[in-house]
Amino acid sequence: MRIIIIGATSGIGREVAKLYIAQGWQVGIAGRRAEELESLRKEAPEQVFSEVLDVTLEDAPCRLQSLIDKVGGMDIFLLSSGIGKQNPTLTPDIELKTAATNVEGFIRLTTAAWHFFEKQGYGHIAAISSIAGVKGLGIAPAYSATKRFQNTYLDALDQLARMNKLNITFTDIRPGFVATPLLKDDNYPLLMKAPQVAQSIVKAIQQKKRIVVIDWRYRILVFFWKLIPHWIWVRLKVKN
Ligand SMILES: NC(=O)c1ccc[n+]([C@@H]2O[C@H](COP(=O)([O-])OP(=O)(O)OC[C@H]3O[C@@H](n4cnc5c(N)ncnc54)[C@H](OP(=O)(O)O)[C@@H]3O)[C@@H](O)[C@H]2O)c1
Repeated sequence: MRIIIIGATSGIGREVAKLYIAQGWQVGIAGRRAEELESLRKEAPEQVFSEVLDVTLEDAPCRLQSLIDKVGGMDIFLLSSGIGKQNPTLTPDIELKTAATNVEGFIRLTTAAWHFFEKQGYGHIAAISSIAGVKGLGIAPAYSATKRFQNTYLDALDQLARMNKLNITFTDIRPGFVATPLLKDDNYPLLMKAPQVAQSIVKAIQQKKRIVVIDWRYRILVFFWKLIPHWIWVRLKVKN
């Protein structure tokens, strides 16, 4: 079996890649940092293939195709690339860069994977969004809004695939806080470890879950979070 993981140079994507490598899969890994890709590729050169790819650039779909060719095909596409920063001063540059990666880049790569699977006749598109999409977060407007965008976009693709009678499966993975370079420091509540989160992700993909919140504590939190009325939510001082 063959999986392509975009955003496998660090954090969650890298841990997921390691698990698939351990299971004997053919694994295609991508991201912007060539040396990080190379260090992982070297761990299992007969199984791992890499491609430098920036989701914000127009050549990303061609680079994805080149990676698929190196791997010899694609059964599962996993998008783990993403950026996120708190931005309480609402610096426009941070907001726009976040949208370029998490919205534009997300569309660019999921549509490329969709068209590949459409031609192939089957496939599985999985993406790591976040629980941050549940409600607009004042301290991270673009991050929370782009994650909500990803949730909705996958819903839309799922409906479109059924309308067009395509055999494409979708998995929307929504973790809570995970200790990765994205968070920069450990000062977050209910912080999870990336290798454990990666295990839950592999399981959810294998079970073809449509939506998965990781872990059970965050499932409870999200349940209650959704119940907070808007007029209360906008008055809450939500920090990390
Ligand atoms: N950590 C958390 O608490 C948490 C919680 C919920 C959801 N998530 C989501 O999980 C995903 C993975 O994040 P992480 O926590 O594992 O952080 P991370 O360690 O910073 O990983 C982010 C990955 O995205 C890649 N990436 C970023 N910009 C890219 C671009 N323009 N083109 C290609 N690849 C790009 C990075 O690779 P390069 O830098 O090499 O390009 C890296 O491999 C993100 O979508 C994030 O929003 C994280």
